[in-house]
Amino acid sequence: MVKKAPLTDFDTGMCLRFPRQGQFDPLKYLAGLAEAIERRGGKIYTGTHVEKIKGGLPARVETSSGKVVTADAVVVATNSPISNLATMHFKQAPYITFVIGAKVPRGSVPKALYWDTLDPYHYVRLQSIDEQYDVLIVGGEDHKTGQADDADARYARLQTWTRERFPMAQEILFRWSGQVMNSDDGIAYIGKNPFDEENVYIVTGDTGIGMTHGTIAGILLTDLILGRKNTWAELYDPSRVRIGGVGDFISENLNVATQYLDWVTPGDVDSVEKVAPGTGAVVRRGLTKIAAYRDENGTLHEHSAICTHLNCIVAWNSSENTWDCPCHGSRFNTQGQVINGPAINGLASTEKT
Ligand SMILES: Cc1cc2nc3c(=O)[nH]c(=O)nc-3n(C[C@H](O)[C@H](O)[C@H](O)COP(=O)(O)OP(=O)(O)OC[C@H]3O[C@@H](n4cnc5c(N)ncnc54)[C@H](O)[C@@H]3O)c2cc1C
Ligand code: FES
Repeated sequence: MVKKAPLTDFDTGMCLRFPRQGQFDPLKYLAGLAEAIERRGGKIYTGTHVEKIKGGLPARVETSSGKVVTADAVVVATNSPISNLATMHFKQAPYITFVIGAKVPRGSVPKALYWDTLDPYHYVRLQSIDEQYDVLIVGGEDHKTGQADDADARYARLQTWTRERFPMAQEILFRWSGQVMNSDDGIAYIGKNPFDEENVYIVTGDTGIGMTHGTIAGILLTDLILGRKNTWAELYDPSRVRIGGVGDFISENLNVATQYLDWVTPGDVDSVEKVAPGTGAVVRRGLTKIAAYRDENGTLHEHSAICTHLNCIVAWNSSENTWDCPCHGSRFNTQGQVINGPAINGLASTEKT
């Protein structure tokens, strides 16, 4: 424990210091992993959509092209597991997190990974861009996926927070958002898929530290598949029930239950005529709801607003132009295609609703 973080204008108060941390560029890390897999004879197939996973020996993976892959073991690393209709989705919650990148003079902020404990929390990273400048990456202002659509206000709050604590911050060069899966007790779920047949393994619930958890998963799952003992297995076991996480488990699942009220509420607008070009809105049509997106050319793209995972009503995300499900974090593009599980299938076309 140290008296404060080594920052000049930000009095953090007492904090925990974790020595010997590593910071790396995730894309370079991924490129290295891909190269290592291929060097050892592995093959990587991208653009292949998985529709069904069945455990057993061999385990089977069915793809949307009709091709079936059989294997001794399958690892489902789809961030939110698609192998599991319910169990894991009651033990973790999807959050959209926001990030800005501000230009700062090189060396003006000591390099470290900073993380506060506010709710919602903030995280700070530093990335060099050239001889003179670094990018100060500040993230936070999370909200539950599909339950807010006010990204501009959140980016503005991040900027204020940053300028108050890092007065050396100059212009904002970047801003973006993405989804993280928060586990009930803050530790990822890595291991055998609960209530499934043999030989299906999952890694999920990264809770914003997926680079660390992903690396742990690589080591731990290899041991589990090869039948080797690993002392971390119990800690990360997806079947665990931990007393410390029970409060969050209850409140997150109550929150999900209330999302089903969207079935009886009016739409965002009362007619698709009111959907402006470049925007989307949910519109009530009889007993059901429609996800209506009008592209920049004025063409309307309609899909059912019913999420294909467990039937919650999706919400428009105007910052990312996606349909986001407020229940377990499935996300769909403007054409209704699924871009984030647990849903496996896209939003139905309106002819089927
Ligand atoms: C803004 C932001 C900041 C973050 N900052 C940090 C940080 O500083 N440090 C850190 O450690 N972590 C951070 N994280 C978290 C980290 O980025 C994630 O935990 C990590 O990227 C998750 O990796 P993954 O491989 O499990 O999932 P993903 O990267 O989401 O990959 C899942 C893959 O599965 C594929 N897939 C899904 N469904 C199917 C299907 N049916 N068939 C076939 N493929 C499918 C997807 O296409 C995707 O390629 C941050 C996240 C965000 C959003
Ligand atoms: S993600 Fe579960 S109902 Fe949509």
